[in-house]
Amino acid sequence: MAARGGFSSKLGFIAAAAGSAVGLGNIWQFPYVAGQNGGAAFLLIYVAWIFLIGLPVMVGEIAVGRRTLANPYGAYKQLGGKYWALVGLFGIICGVMILSFYNVVAGWAFGYFIQVSFGNILKEPDFAGYFNNYVADYTDNLIFSISFMILTAFIVYKGVQKGIEGTSKVLMPTLFIILILIIIYGLTLPNAMDGVNFYLIPNFDLINGATIYSALGQAFFSLSLGMGALITYGSYISKQDNIISSATMVTVADTMVAFLAGLMIFPLVFSQGQSPSEGPGLVFVALMGVFQTMDPLVARFVGGGFFLLLSFAALTSTISLLEVPVAFLVDEKKISRGKAVSIMAVIIFALGLPSMLGFGATEVFTSFMHYEGVTKSFMDVVQDVFFVVSLPLGGFLLSIFIATRWKNHNMSEEISHGNASYKGSIFEKFFNVMITFVCPVVLGIMFVLTMLQKFFG
Ligand code: PFF
Repeated sequence: MAARGGFSSKLGFIAAAAGSAVGLGNIWQFPYVAGQNGGAAFLLIYVAWIFLIGLPVMVGEIAVGRRTLANPYGAYKQLGGKYWALVGLFGIICGVMILSFYNVVAGWAFGYFIQVSFGNILKEPDFAGYFNNYVADYTDNLIFSISFMILTAFIVYKGVQKGIEGTSKVLMPTLFIILILIIIYGLTLPNAMDGVNFYLIPNFDLINGATIYSALGQAFFSLSLGMGALITYGSYISKQDNIISSATMVTVADTMVAFLAGLMIFPLVFSQGQSPSEGPGLVFVALMGVFQTMDPLVARFVGGGFFLLLSFAALTSTISLLEVPVAFLVDEKKISRGKAVSIMAVIIFALGLPSMLGFGATEVFTSFMHYEGVTKSFMDVVQDVFFVVSLPLGGFLLSIFIATRWKNHNMSEEISHGNASYKGSIFEKFFNVMITFVCPVVLGIMFVLTMLQKFFG
């Protein structure tokens, strides 16, 4: 087992798992989704999902990983047999597909970092037009997303401790510092308080069924749940670690960064009278308009700092996404880490090409399908299938698996290593009730509603 590697300490795990959780989901997606869905009203629903459903599923995943010392496929197989192993395999496939499009967006962030810090992009007269051309032009995209994938592959190749843990321990604190500095700067700008008010005064009129399940999908994606990333990371932690406190810290850190990302972005956006409900272009269009109004040198630092932050956040997530299929190949196919990393990086990069070409470069992938009353690009469809629908489904299956197959008392046994007072405590009762009743029922209902709304509406 030693060959699989492992985290050096509890802190190492927390940095890596928080690194996985904190990503584009927090800094790119959360603010624009909250901006479109009632600000703090969305935040409240999101936080409820995170702590009531997300945290118990995270604890379950980590416990399964540490118990089996295996990748998601191997873990389900060991505890549940060959049919349950398919659930693990499906999780790995979701991870592969998520990374395929995630790497494209990470490439945009990285490209913007280079251009804002060192190029002339801030002189552009029309950022919306620029962004549309930029994402449609696959030559630039190709270069930046290949670079990003190579960087990810290199870190994963370096191994769990030196690569993943080492990188996360440096990037996570740096990210936090950049975030705080930009927040402080933003709050000093004129009209910043309008942004704070927009963000923090809830508008419940914008909440409906669709908002509630999009908050659930967002919560699962943000915590990296439902596809076995935390089974994999859990398989690298020590028996002495306290799973409950580690999972709680990761969850709190992730939620905090999403919250702070909103607090960074809305004051900036309002200070220049930009629209807070811009959508996916919020950081690439509205924020650029904000940076443009600054002194050119300050703009290079604040704007460059922002896109560097976004790239760092993405990188600690892409490494966790790549680690999942790599762990699978290393454990199950007994091939070397280097070979597994190269094979997966190439396959995943290739799978991402249609996503990259779906922003105007080619018509087929741009208008790939039509449902929910709108035309969807290839990337939209991959997101709907492998993240919005599948991650909560993965959480549903995990909780059913623990409740009916692995059994609560085995989960309690695993958690009680490193947490001697767990058994018989109120925490044990809470997690057992959540995993056995609340998660299966709620996630099952949400799955059916999401499918109906998305594909049969
Ligand atoms: N949690 C990441 C984010 O919020 O951007 C995305 C993610 C990473 C999802 C790793 C799933 C995963 F396994």
